[in-house]
Amino acid sequence: MHENDAKANYKILEFHQPELSENEWNKISSLFKKYSEKDVLCEIKNHQLTLYLKSIDFGIFQNEIETLTQNGLANTAAGKLLKEILDKIASIKSYGIKGNKRVYVGYNDERKVKERKKKEQNREQFFYAQDHTFSTTNNALPDEYLNKIICGDSKSVLQKIPDNCIDIIFTSPPYNFGLEYNSNQDDHHWQSYFNQLFAIFDECIRVLKFGGRIVVNVQPLFSDYIPSHHLISNYFIGRKLIWKGEIIWEKNNYNCKYTAWGSWKSPSNPYLKYTWEFLEVFAKGTLKKEGKPEHADISAGEFKKWVLAEWKIAPERKMKEYGHPAMFPEELVARVLKLFSFENDIVLDPFNGAGTTTFVAKKLNRNFLGIDISEKYCQVAMDRLNATIA
Ligand SMILES: C[S@@+](CC[C@H](N)C(=O)[O-])C[C@H]1O[C@@H](n2cnc3c(N)ncnc32)[C@H](O)[C@@H]1O
Repeated sequence: MHENDAKANYKILEFHQPELSENEWNKISSLFKKYSEKDVLCEIKNHQLTLYLKSIDFGIFQNEIETLTQNGLANTAAGKLLKEILDKIASIKSYGIKGNKRVYVGYNDERKVKERKKKEQNREQFFYAQDHTFSTTNNALPDEYLNKIICGDSKSVLQKIPDNCIDIIFTSPPYNFGLEYNSNQDDHHWQSYFNQLFAIFDECIRVLKFGGRIVVNVQPLFSDYIPSHHLISNYFIGRKLIWKGEIIWEKNNYNCKYTAWGSWKSPSNPYLKYTWEFLEVFAKGTLKKEGKPEHADISAGEFKKWVLAEWKIAPERKMKEYGHPAMFPEELVARVLKLFSFENDIVLDPFNGAGTTTFVAKKLNRNFLGIDISEKYCQVAMDRLNATIA
């Protein structure tokens, strides 16, 4: 093989093992001869094994090495080398999948765009938010609001708080579905509902730090044909926030699938059913958030799983116990906070209800501020904070 061709077309892995006999080297070399040279190629020279790796059925390869190292080659230098080879290949985390094989080279080629940066500039990323006028100076949240649950209308409470002092807002506004909230009407005319909601969101945007995030959980009322998730997103875009993405919260709430079909078995007016809700994620001023690396508490496994924007999480089961009809499950809050904020950040929920956001924020070493109009829910939120955290 021409060396330059090899470098371009294969991933090269090198292993040095001075203790192997010629017989053992031959055994190892014959193992790789079973594979097509197009997939993997093994060269042995001066006690050095070089593996040219393009693609491999990792499951089969792993079984084969494990069988060899547990039987014939157990406790030998050759067994040790094979184990080293297996571990090294397993540690390669970037690969494509083709059939049963992991493809280590060229799997991204078809996605490569020539002059990507220039084209990005031409298109102008988040063009709708480039002319924002947000100040980059962040402020401290006054002590009287730090780690507090405040009972009141969010708009008037937030009006007393300085600009740019909150790291992340996670919230679920009242749905306007006619739910029996403790002290609040939940069936306004839609226009009046959005006017009130956006007046509170105006304050939320103002108190958010430069680089802060606002994540809004929305369940549209499909039966009224009101796409709240689009209207709310459109509002934030109009206010020059950057749309960072959308997460589908799949509740697997299959009960609703079998009722209210609209015009049954006719194209006349079929009614679409949804088992999920939406999380719309926005950033103020910049997509990058300031934070110390040691304050990132998300694990590699969590990160890998959660950046896939469909989250399968069952709805909260303890709503009766807490006396609130529309609570977040704790897992949903934990994912949002660990993926989008750092430890010690300040988390705000302006519709804090039974206080799931503030409870999880405290549990995850974040600071918090929770606001709700209902005294009863604020009391539940405080009781949860005061209860021992398991
Ligand atoms: C969907 S619930 C939020 C539930 C919360 N995520 C939880 O896990 O418990 C919406 C909440 O908004 C509150 N609310 C409605 N209007 C409000 C207002 N103007 N200011 C503050 N809270 C309000 C309601 O009392 C209700 O608890």
